[in-house]
Amino acid sequence: IDQDAFRRDLINWFNNNKRTLPWREDQDPYKVWVSEIMLQQTQVDTVIPYFNAFIRQFPTPSALADADEQEVLKAWEGLGYYSRARNLKTAVKEVKESYGGVVPKEKQSLSKLKGIGPYTLGAIMSIAYNQPEPAVDGNVMRVLSRLCNIEEDIAKPKTKKTFEALVRQLISEQDPSSFNQGLMELGALICRPQSPKCDRCPVKAHCQAFHSNKQNVLPIKSKK
Ligand code: ADE
Repeated sequence: IDQDAFRRDLINWFNNNKRTLPWREDQDPYKVWVSEIMLQQTQVDTVIPYFNAFIRQFPTPSALADADEQEVLKAWEGLGYYSRARNLKTAVKEVKESYGGVVPKEKQSLSKLKGIGPYTLGAIMSIAYNQPEPAVDGNVMRVLSRLCNIEEDIAKPKTKKTFEALVRQLISEQDPSSFNQGLMELGALICRPQSPKCDRCPVKAHCQAFHSNKQNVLPIKSKK
């Protein structure tokens, strides 16, 4: 794989084809954080109105920290997985008390906040702070398993480390934000689980699965 050409093709495609989404209007780390938490178990189309209402009601970490927990859970109603909202509330209180209400830029500090696991950490570091950190979820594993013909079982927790190491090799140092969001967007729009649209793929020239017609057998995912 020609890494420079791959990065360039992915980032160009993302910049010309990205969906207009409310959390893409600026690089506010709080908005990136809230959106990524909402998007973890909920579809983009469902998240959009909840995200807009949530940010209107709680525009900053300190506003959310000061809010009544019942109000926050009420705003989350319909999204489900309420522990996400409770953890976020706990985490922004820490941001208010320990960091003056500013979402920390340091990986170490961010990773200690309640509910921020490796994926959310990488998403905030790359999208808000433009740092070359991997943000690997199931969609990114699907895209990269096809691109690099990786036959590891993506249902195994250990496998994520393989993909994080791969992203560290591949990621653009110039534009980590567009690189990571490009992988996510490619997974959402082109490199779909079923019938991927390889004919329209901006990186098909670099894709091992496309060249060996394995796009329908990768990724390997065992049933639990
Ligand atoms: N899925 C997870 N994170 C996303 C993002 N930032 N934009 C669109 N879809 C996503």
